[in-house]
Amino acid sequence: MNSSADNESEGSSRGPGSTRILALTVCSAAIGGTFQYGYNISIINAPTVYIRGFINDTYMDRWGIGLDTPQVTLVWTLIVSAFSLGGLLGALLAGPMAVHFGRKNSLLINNVFLFVGTVLVLTCRVSRSFEMIILARCLVGINAGVSMNIQPMYFGESAPKHLRGAVAFSSAVFTAFGIFLGQVVGLTELLGTEPMWPYLLGSNALPGLIQVLSLPWLPESPRYLLIDRGDREACVRALQRLRGGEAPVLEMEEMLQEQQQQQLIALKSESASSFKTPWSLFKDRNLRSQLKTVMAASSAMILCGNDSIYFYASYIFLEAGIPAEKIQYVAIGTGASELTASILSNVLIERVGRRYLLVGGYSLMVFWTIVFTLALTLQSHGVAGMPYLSMACVFAYILSFGLGPAGVTGILPAEIFDQGSRPVVYMVTGSLMWLSLILVGMLFPFIINSLGNFCFLPFLVVCLVSAVFLGLTLPETKGKTLAEINAEFDRKNGMKKERMEKQMDEPIKDHYQLGTGCSFSTMTQNPDYDHMKRSMTSSSE
Ligand SMILES: *[C@@H]1O[C@H](CO)[C@@H](O)[C@H](O)[C@H]1NC(C)=O
Repeated sequence: MNSSADNESEGSSRGPGSTRILALTVCSAAIGGTFQYGYNISIINAPTVYIRGFINDTYMDRWGIGLDTPQVTLVWTLIVSAFSLGGLLGALLAGPMAVHFGRKNSLLINNVFLFVGTVLVLTCRVSRSFEMIILARCLVGINAGVSMNIQPMYFGESAPKHLRGAVAFSSAVFTAFGIFLGQVVGLTELLGTEPMWPYLLGSNALPGLIQVLSLPWLPESPRYLLIDRGDREACVRALQRLRGGEAPVLEMEEMLQEQQQQQLIALKSESASSFKTPWSLFKDRNLRSQLKTVMAASSAMILCGNDSIYFYASYIFLEAGIPAEKIQYVAIGTGASELTASILSNVLIERVGRRYLLVGGYSLMVFWTIVFTLALTLQSHGVAGMPYLSMACVFAYILSFGLGPAGVTGILPAEIFDQGSRPVVYMVTGSLMWLSLILVGMLFPFIINSLGNFCFLPFLVVCLVSAVFLGLTLPETKGKTLAEINAEFDRKNGMKKERMEKQMDEPIKDHYQLGTGCSFSTMTQNPDYDHMKRSMTSSSE
């Protein structure tokens, strides 16, 4: 009942093109955010050979002796992992930045890292220094780490309830688009040539520039303005612009209630719902199962090796027996299939549900790794046509990833956790994600070299474990209220079910009942929920 009333009040103020500002905000934030992440992951692939040559040449110039292959590989690995290391730093920086400067300003300030990195990478050849590439990649990584964490918060807080799923999912679409565009720009016909590689690496300044030129004219997150800044007028103005008309009364009320709630919490201090540090999050027994689930999901998203395929696409296709001169075009196909899948998934998510997409995605990936391994084995026995089968498997693997895990993983923390814990949960999952990227990035070349035909077996294990674990721990979150989701988790946390239900009396249940396809974030912003949770916490102790 709640949702229909909501839709009405929103609907009455919705004129044609009223979500234009919201759409522009999403594009502007994402172009310097997840797009940038995808773009930077894929542009490093094309100039591998040139940069390796450059490392050796500069070393030769400086010290008069050349390097041998393992040493060059070591420096190259440093360049590749510097990005993930930077990302980890960025993920840790993002929480404090988002609270201190606000969502929009943090994203804008964040571009400083990017631009310094661009200057370094454009001047590294003149200064004959490969160290500058390492530093530049680290700075670009910080940029990606910060925006990857702030962007979902900004989106979740700016979108109206009925669009929240789609808006959150656009992050995955932009990642895939970045990967795809990076692969296109990296073609030998464009910037993927020996003289052009510094410009290829520096081309990531353009999306940043677009963001710096567009985002200042778009509204800040209304929720941040009201709750963190206490600026009611600014909040109303931002909300009016985002909704393209009058600020919806119900939404405004919800926010005001939450503001009051936050003030109460601040007065009482040390409350269960004001999480500020990862430590307090880990200590809370009521959140243990939720935390385990999102931590598993975000590590699995990277450990399944999908993003490393972009780092090492050429290796994999060589291993699969694709002719060297065709590889760059095949690689573009990988980007294109993730893009297609993520767009498709955007349509599916509200129908099929998060749990099915996630568990189904990993199960499909298990299947494809098995076929891939069989194809590689048969290929080494000389069975014809196998390179094409294994290539098809890589595509199918990426498609399955794009359909489920790619998009669902990012929105889980927003759906499972309340406003108070969200920044810190993103900090934890973001760090895990980047740590996994470092791990896989460093292990991948060795996996390929030492396991040969069985190089996808470690990923098979990851996908299998993820499918089973998430299948067991993750309740379906689609169309359910946060209170219901938490009730499911509480059973797993070993809390008594009756106690939970006693707390959740009928009027509140009604109040939280949403139609399908709505996001639960609204629930988290309701003071009743916080109240309920706190009383639960106290009764359990
Ligand atoms: C590095 O350069 C030297 C001198 O040009 C060359 O002998 C050596 O093979 C190169 N090392 C690699 C790994 O290409």
